[in-house]
Amino acid sequence: MKRLEGKIAIVTGGAGGIGSATARRLTSEGAVTVIADYDLVRARAVAGEIGHGATAAFYDAEKMETVEALVVSTVAQFGRLDILLNNAAITTPQIQKDDTTAVDIAFETWDRVMAVNLRGYLAGCKYAIPEMLKTGGGAIVNTASGSGLVGDLSRIAYGTSKAGVIALTRSVATQYGRRGIRCNAVAPGLILTEAARDGVPELIEIIQNHVLTPRLGTPEDVAAVVAFLASEDAGFINGETIVCNGGSLAHQPHTHDLAQYLEGPH
Ligand SMILES: NC(=O)c1ccc[n+]([C@@H]2O[C@H](COP(=O)([O-])OP(=O)(O)OC[C@H]3O[C@@H](n4cnc5c(N)ncnc54)[C@H](O)[C@@H]3O)[C@@H](O)[C@H]2O)c1
Repeated sequence: MKRLEGKIAIVTGGAGGIGSATARRLTSEGAVTVIADYDLVRARAVAGEIGHGATAAFYDAEKMETVEALVVSTVAQFGRLDILLNNAAITTPQIQKDDTTAVDIAFETWDRVMAVNLRGYLAGCKYAIPEMLKTGGGAIVNTASGSGLVGDLSRIAYGTSKAGVIALTRSVATQYGRRGIRCNAVAPGLILTEAARDGVPELIEIIQNHVLTPRLGTPEDVAAVVAFLASEDAGFINGETIVCNGGSLAHQPHTHDLAQYLEGPH
């Protein structure tokens, strides 16, 4: 028997790099997966490619009524909801450009990032938990980020939203854990989605210098953590954030410089 056989799962941001890989993984482990995204064309393409009962659904994380409708329609179609991966994030080039520093960021940018990345996750929990409780519980996994654990030179709203996701995760576990809801987070480091691969090559090289693995992370690495957290194998894990970053926060910040110094001519 597969680990997630008979489970009904929603993956938000399911058309994206990590979301689509996770939808694929959950489905391969036996779940029926709803790929939810505001890019319905791509969500449908992902569902079609995955097969095995995977479906696509439109929702917009900024519009609360569409988050509620997503949960309602999933339960109407499949009779229950067991797994929710809150994963959508606003990653448009414009937001990447506008989400800068404490002094320079516009409040409008801050509000949009918080609406999608944090309030959107709250909404997922708000509407999913009552449905999960009806069937004895469920598993929520939130995609946080290493940016929620340490500071960054830019993207102040993104990092703050992801720190909020980690706090949200703990609070949901605290408030509903004893009634059967497990709520955990995964905090990826740089993950080589297609978009990241097409990004700045120098950035990839810099990150490569700071991971403790011979390779960088893939969407499938994150998907494996989500599948574990969603399954009964993680039945005694609640309120945790699992980092998935090749150990990039596990060492002294000067490790790479020190290694170069020790190997260098002196
Ligand atoms: N890729 C990385 O290196 C990395 C690192 C750390 C954390 N993360 C996190 O992983 C998650 C997935 O990131 P990704 O790299 O796959 O990004 P992505 O851009 O490929 O996927 C994000 C998805 O969210 C959808 N989306 C955006 N706004 C939405 C909205 N308002 N309503 C509904 N859907 C919306 C997009 O259409 C897209 O399909 C995000 O939460 C991101 O912050 C990614």
